[in-house]
Amino acid sequence: MLADKHILLIVGGGIAAFKSLDLVRRLREQGAQVTPVLTKAGVEFVTPLSLSALSASKVYQDLFNLTDEAEMGHIELSRAADLIVVAPATADLMAKMAGGLANDLASTLLLATDKRVLIAPSMNVRMWDHPATQRNLATLQGDGILVVGPNEGDMACGEYGPGRMAEVPEIIAAIDAALADGPLNGRHVLVTSGPTHEPIDPVRYIANRSSGAQGTAIAKALAALGADVTFVTGPADVPPPMDMTVVKVQTAQEMLEAVQAAGAADAAVFAAAVADWHVANAGDSKIKKDGSGLPKLDFAENPDILATVSQMSKGRPKLVVGFAAETDDVIANATAKRLRKQCDWIVANDVSPETGIMGGSENAVTLISADGAESWPRMSKDAVAATLAQRIAEAIA
Ligand code: CTP
Repeated sequence: MLADKHILLIVGGGIAAFKSLDLVRRLREQGAQVTPVLTKAGVEFVTPLSLSALSASKVYQDLFNLTDEAEMGHIELSRAADLIVVAPATADLMAKMAGGLANDLASTLLLATDKRVLIAPSMNVRMWDHPATQRNLATLQGDGILVVGPNEGDMACGEYGPGRMAEVPEIIAAIDAALADGPLNGRHVLVTSGPTHEPIDPVRYIANRSSGAQGTAIAKALAALGADVTFVTGPADVPPPMDMTVVKVQTAQEMLEAVQAAGAADAAVFAAAVADWHVANAGDSKIKKDGSGLPKLDFAENPDILATVSQMSKGRPKLVVGFAAETDDVIANATAKRLRKQCDWIVANDVSPETGIMGGSENAVTLISADGAESWPRMSKDAVAATLAQRIAEAIA
């Protein structure tokens, strides 16, 4: 799939640099040509010799190397590739990129390039969570830089949390998507998916039967068309896709915050089955059967994420797509919902138990827009996703 693609791989100085060696091998197995650039800090983790042997290429390290400048200047090096991949992207490299610094070869290439850039951040969890890094991340995403990972897990430094570099297959999938010559190349699309869990107490919650299958399929279909997808998901049964930014949330409030933190999007698809209410008097400790009668739950309304984004006065995505899960008068209810929430399209489906749609692998939807209602034949959720992604691409082209 990557045959004849040329990737400039910048290896930063982090413990995850060892994974970059495997990344080079896998990329070459797929037919890609890899030119490595090793930062000064990167040399502390992998040797130029191993990178050179695995890539069968010269490894570039210095900005001021007259021989290289005579052979291939840094401007040319930054533009000869189809894609620049930074793996691992350290906090320092991200800060340099966000600030537009050009004080070594890697940062100069990143500033001089006219090609797409994909970064795979890797750092200690506190460094990742630091407002400065999060600010830099938002700046980079705003600049159109693609991001894969980081993942959550045990870290080499002994801590636990987000900061682990994405695994090699995830980086390759992100490279594939970045190089896909799709109609959504360079477009940022936000997708919400799955149910939300609204706590009653620390061990109990209110949920719904959404599996996340349709939202996940839509996110994958959009990425397959080249979109840079941010996938905000509640606790779903279906695992989230690999090749995109995945934000896991529990509650509707967290989902809203994640959507608002995702940055400007060209389109947004709200496929999540968000709980309409949360328990206002949710306790910090487990409710006990203490003989004082049945517990009384007070409900409060959750924020409507779809309506909030649809009605944004500044930075509203060009296309906002909602879903309507209905059991009666599907088209009439969904048409009213579109007007009430002020989204552009509603994908309406009949979730009456006899349809077997909720939790099943097929879907029969009606697309409702300002132009009216268009019913699609019953098809697999993957086919619905592919059709919808294609329509989104046409609408925001
Ligand atoms: N939605 C949302 N935030 C909420 C509730 C719903 O973003 N708090 C979104 C869903 O992701 C979906 C659309 O709104 O895209 C419709 O959700 P649905 O639950 O079917 O509609 P409701 O607004 O809850 O209306 P009703 O309960 O009357 O069906």
